[in-house]
This record gives sequence, structure tokens and C-alpha cells, in this order.
Amino acid sequence: MTFKIGLLGLGTVGTGTAEILLDTQGRNSLLQEIEIKQVGVRSLDKPRNVQLPTEIFTTDLEKIVTDPEIDIVVELIGGLEPARTLILKAIAEGKHVVTANKAVIARYGDEIYTAANQAGVYVLLEAAVGGGIPIIKPLKQSLGVNRIKSVIGIVNGTTNYILTKMTTAGADFAEVLAEAQQLGYAEADPTADVDGLDAADKIGILATIAFGDRVKREDISCEGIRNVSATDISYADKLGFVIKLLAIAKIHAQHDSLEVRVHPTLVPKTHPLANINDVYNAILVEGEPLGQVMFFGPGAGAGATASAVVSDIVNIVGLLKSSGKNKSLDPLLGCSHQHFCSL
Ligand code: NDP
Ligand code: HSE
Repeated sequence: MTFKIGLLGLGTVGTGTAEILLDTQGRNSLLQEIEIKQVGVRSLDKPRNVQLPTEIFTTDLEKIVTDPEIDIVVELIGGLEPARTLILKAIAEGKHVVTANKAVIARYGDEIYTAANQAGVYVLLEAAVGGGIPIIKPLKQSLGVNRIKSVIGIVNGTTNYILTKMTTAGADFAEVLAEAQQLGYAEADPTADVDGLDAADKIGILATIAFGDRVKREDISCEGIRNVSATDISYADKLGFVIKLLAIAKIHAQHDSLEVRVHPTLVPKTHPLANINDVYNAILVEGEPLGQVMFFGPGAGAGATASAVVSDIVNIVGLLKSSGKNKSLDPLLGCSHQHFCSL
């Protein structure tokens, strides 16, 4: 049996995804049952770095999501629209969806998962947070029996790359940002990285899974790294700290409230998150009775992110082959604000 994929987007992550799907040797055997049927892009003239027949390319993405032969739509175009509409259309057509699009899920997760539950299809998003780090599934399933107290992470590779280079090499902000773009780490509009919006999308998703209630995206307080200067970094260093862009979701038991925030933070050099450098991400989860666990790995880039995308595709294929049951994200949560500084 062959499972047919409609790939929306063949940029950094789409290309990495296609490369894995086309080179199956030594990988999960289910990959041999998966075929890329159509690829949706903006421009048919762009040179592509992956060997796919030209006749499967189209700029008509709606045609892909309504193609009756396609089983799984893989949304890797990014941005809010037309991504949201295409995902919803795919779901309405009874297709399973894999997406790396944290911006859409953080804002429209409720709508998308309600539609998916009604349609009885899977929507998986492992690549949306932490790049190649398995975090969504472990947080939801393996840690699901714990009472989660906090989820604290470095969840944006671009800004961690910039802060690392500014700290270790005294590099210039604009130059390192250009490097991160060149390496395929940054969003199409890197403002989302630099101003902490991407990290806020991601912690909103993690908080929703960890705390089982809906975090409204607009309630997540958010400050990026634009105002972090070489002087800040140097003073922090002298005082025994590094500056990291942290995304924090914490329960305050005494107030029965949850706070979710993103901001540059003074992290003691002895803290486990202090030594997470370059494009690496790490997410520290504290639960009861578990205690602390940390997830660590490459947080952005073609290969790492494609690993998460393809693992979702393979998971869906495995589930379809065995049962056909549907899954959904828990409904999301409330939140309060706080600013800068403390862990
Ligand atoms: P890119 O900008 O590299 O690629 C986007 C792709 O989508 C391109 O192939 C582009 O076509 C196509 N596309 C965009 N808009 C449209 C449209 N309106 N109609 C048709 N095609 C369109 O993005 P990335 O691969 O970096 O990111 C994709 C998604 O993955 C985003 O949601 C991003 O947030 C997420 N992500 C990215 C990571 C990374 O490291 N880059 C890591 C984790 C998640 P064309 O090629 O013709 O321009
Ligand atoms: N732009 C994002 C980052 C991509 O730098 O973390 C991974 O989600």
C-alpha cells in the first residue's frame, strides 16, 4: 500500500523533508510506502536542490489539498494565510495534516483541532517546536501523567545563535542575523525571531499541552533580543550570568495561575540552560513526581526540522496501518504577565 503526500512548500524544511522521503535506505521501513504525489510552491522557475519530477510541481495549492488521491498534506509554507485556510480545507477533505507552522497553531490551534476531531483526522506538529527535538509527543504522552509545574526553554535557534556569537566572538548583531538567515534558521520575516514572537508561539503551544488549557497568544508577554547590547553581555558575564532568550510557562500554585512569558533573561552560568549554544534549543520540564527533565538538540535548520516532519508522517502512516484512530491536541489556557530578568 502506498500513502500519498501533498507537500506544500519546498523551501528549507520542504527540501529537507523531500530528501529524507526520497532516500529511504537504512531508515524506517514505512518510508518505502510513502510517495510525494504533488509539490506546491510559489514559483515554478526557481532552481530546486532535490530530484523531483517537474510535472508534480504546481502553484495551485488548493488543487493539492482537494486531490482525492492524497492521504497526508504536509504544510511547510509558513505564515498565517494561506496556510490556515489550506490546513482547514485539507482537514475538511478528510486528509491528515503534518505542519511545522507554530504561528498558525499558536493562533488557530483550537479551530484546527476542533475541525480535525470532527473530521476524524490527525494533525501532527512535532517540528513546530524545538526543530529536531522530540518534545510535543513526549510532553503529551510520556510526561502526561505528571503534574507539570514549569516548562522553560530556549526555543528559538536564530536568537540563540545570535546571542552565542555576540557572547563568544563579540560579533555584530546584523551580521550574525544574516548568517542565521543564510543557514536557513530564520523565519521568512526574521522579525518573528528577533522580537521573540516565534518563541512566544512555541511556548504557547507547549503550555497548552503541558497545562491542558488554552493560552491565548495575545496574553503571552514577549520581548525579543533587539535591545541586548554587547555591554549587557559583558556585564552579565562579569556577574556570573549569560543572557538567553527564555520562554517560560510556570504554574503559581498559591494563586492557581499560569504565567507565560518570553524575554532576555540573566541565566546563572551554572544553570543547565546557560550552556545551550548556537542553533541548539533546550526545554527544561519540571513535573511532579518526575522532577526535572531536559530535552536538547538542534532547534532549526533543514535536516533537523525535516527529521521531525518525517517522523510525524511516519507516525500517521503507522497509525493508519494499525488502527485509524484519531488524536488531538488538548484544549489550551489562562495567563498573567511579568517582565524580564528572573527565571
Ligand atoms: P521557506 O521560506 O524556506 O520555504 C517556504 C516554501 O513555501 C517555499 O518553497 C515557497 O515557495 C513556499 N510558499 C510560501 N508561500 C507560498 C504560497 N503562498 N503559495 C505557494 N507556495 C508558497 O520556509 P522554511 O522551510 O524555513 O519554513 C517552513 C515552515 O517551517 C514555517 O512554518 C517555519 O516556521 C517552519 N519551521 C522552519 C524551521 C527552519 O529551521 N527553517 C524550523 C522549524 C519550523 P518558493 O520556493 O517557490 O518560494
Ligand atoms: N526560526 C526558527 C528558529 C525556526 O530560529 O528557531 C525553528 O522553529
